[in-house]
Amino acid sequence: MLCDPFGKDKVKKEFYGLVAISLILSISALSYIAGLLVSMAGSEPLFLNHTTEKFQGDLQSHQLDFQYGKVHYLSHRRSDSKVHLFALHGPNMTTQSASHWIPNCALFDRMGNFHILDLPGFGESPIDRGLQSVPSTVSAHALHRTMEEEGVLSDPNIRIVFMARSWGAEVVMMLFRRYPEVLDLRIQLVLISPTPNLKLIAPFIKDKIRAISGLIVWGERDKVIPSSFSRVLTRFLPKFDLYILKGVSSHQPETDFPGTFARIVSEWWEKQVEKGIPTHSSSA
Ligand SMILES: *[C@@H]1O[C@H](CO)[C@@H](O)[C@H](O)[C@H]1NC(C)=O
Ligand SMILES: *[C@@H]1O[C@H](CO)[C@@H](O)[C@H](O)[C@H]1NC(C)=O
Repeated sequence: MLCDPFGKDKVKKEFYGLVAISLILSISALSYIAGLLVSMAGSEPLFLNHTTEKFQGDLQSHQLDFQYGKVHYLSHRRSDSKVHLFALHGPNMTTQSASHWIPNCALFDRMGNFHILDLPGFGESPIDRGLQSVPSTVSAHALHRTMEEEGVLSDPNIRIVFMARSWGAEVVMMLFRRYPEVLDLRIQLVLISPTPNLKLIAPFIKDKIRAISGLIVWGERDKVIPSSFSRVLTRFLPKFDLYILKGVSSHQPETDFPGTFARIVSEWWEKQVEKGIPTHSSSA
């Protein structure tokens, strides 16, 4: 039962008053949200594109012997390109392997030859049990062996791109430490939510690493590794572009938003090509 000390009219008036107030409140809330949307639209990029482009080529499966066992990788070779991209996945042994990168293969194909590795202990690359505690060293050796097999260590015209996510960035740093001569090649890096171990950067390779250019992509609200670490990295790697994905909490934006990732990397890559990076073998 409604208690009605003021009579029905009074209740009605109050009701309409409340409706009016809530209308005003919701209109101001809406315009506030609209204002936010406008300001987000003005600041790049906040549209997240989940679309995966279909890779039209073939991936060939290779297996190589290296000092700690066998490394398996998938690759796509193009006779018209002097670019070789090596993709290194993250550390989760249940989810990570070469196939992590399948949503990004069309992008890689536009950039050049590409090789996506099952790092030792992942996917189809076995590892001795006893070695599981030192995977970044073992992975660095496996990566070097793959680069040797692909002929990129001996051709000075080749441009190498390491595409590394999360712990994969540590593998790249370990490669530089174990094989510092790699730093004399033409190298660029694309790092995604990376965790390179900066302690691996010994003084004798520091300047060469700081001279490398590249791109860092990170979800602003990454739940695994806070994107604020990017500030430490870009201080250390002054020639890197940084792209923070606003509002994104994914630690693997490259596969959660492959369309957005493809756009960001393509834009960066086009700038590299404009700078005169040879991407095709037409010269020679
Ligand atoms: C690996 O990924 C699975 C599935 O996403 C998750 O449940 C698990 O916690 C992850 N393991 C580690 C060590 O992060
Ligand atoms: C989303 O990404 C895909 C793959 O990169 C692209 O083909 C498509 O045009 C993008 N869609 C929009 C709306 O930008």
